[in-house]
Amino acid sequence: MLPHATLTSRYASTEAKPEFVNRLFDHGAAHYDRIVDWGFLRSGAFYRRWAQRRHGLRPGHRVLDVACGTGLVAVEAAKILGSADAIICLDPSAGMLAVAKTKLAAQFVQGRAEALPFPDGAFDFLTMGYGLRHVTDLEQTFREYRRVLKPGGRLLILEVTKPAGRLRAFFFRLYFGKIYPGLTQLFTRSREAREMMVYFWETMDACVPPEKVLEALRHAGLAEVRRDSLAGLFSEYSAVKRP
Ligand SMILES: C[S@@+](CC[C@H](N)C(=O)[O-])C[C@H]1O[C@@H](n2cnc3c(N)ncnc32)[C@H](O)[C@@H]1O
Repeated sequence: MLPHATLTSRYASTEAKPEFVNRLFDHGAAHYDRIVDWGFLRSGAFYRRWAQRRHGLRPGHRVLDVACGTGLVAVEAAKILGSADAIICLDPSAGMLAVAKTKLAAQFVQGRAEALPFPDGAFDFLTMGYGLRHVTDLEQTFREYRRVLKPGGRLLILEVTKPAGRLRAFFFRLYFGKIYPGLTQLFTRSREAREMMVYFWETMDACVPPEKVLEALRHAGLAEVRRDSLAGLFSEYSAVKRP
């Protein structure tokens, strides 16, 4: 299952998507942290830590942070664990990984969610922050998540979701489709950073609804599948690998 329909204005086919997405993040990496910091009103670090704690991340866990980007989720996980020693960060973008490496002493692996280069049953907790729209196949990705989790292990996927209801959808579109990319261009003076934010909007707009994500998690054989949401906007997908 695709996370969103092929965006032919960006790439010709699903096969061409990884190269496009990789280039986008490599070029936007230097600006990413600053953009998401003010774009989400400086709430990002607190929210990433709070969500991981609520969903059961505890000291002693071995953690895989998929789509780690510049390390924003992993840095908060390290605060909960007390160190980054038991955290592995994975991302396909060398540019994003290079920024992450300056922030925490975790292990870093260049790779993709759809084909995780780890043995079965290696992790207690798996996180993915705002990377779900960028994979090429949801079920394949979730099967990999199930495979690398230990029995009883948990996953937590954070996403921004287009809200239901015309008025809220209108303001969502106005902010993410117009205001956020416009301010990004103004503050960074970078056309590439603006493009990254425009693409974010396009993928949020085209993303499959939460029910489809939940269905794909169940099809991948995961248990206790659920979505918690804040204001219908911030989705927390969680699931467990059956013991
Ligand atoms: C919006 S950033 C999220 C970074 C970070 N997790 C956060 O919370 O801000 C999305 C990340 O997903 C990565 N990504 C893109 N395609 C991916 C794939 N197929 N598998 C894993 N990560 C991918 C990108 O390189 C990028 O670093």
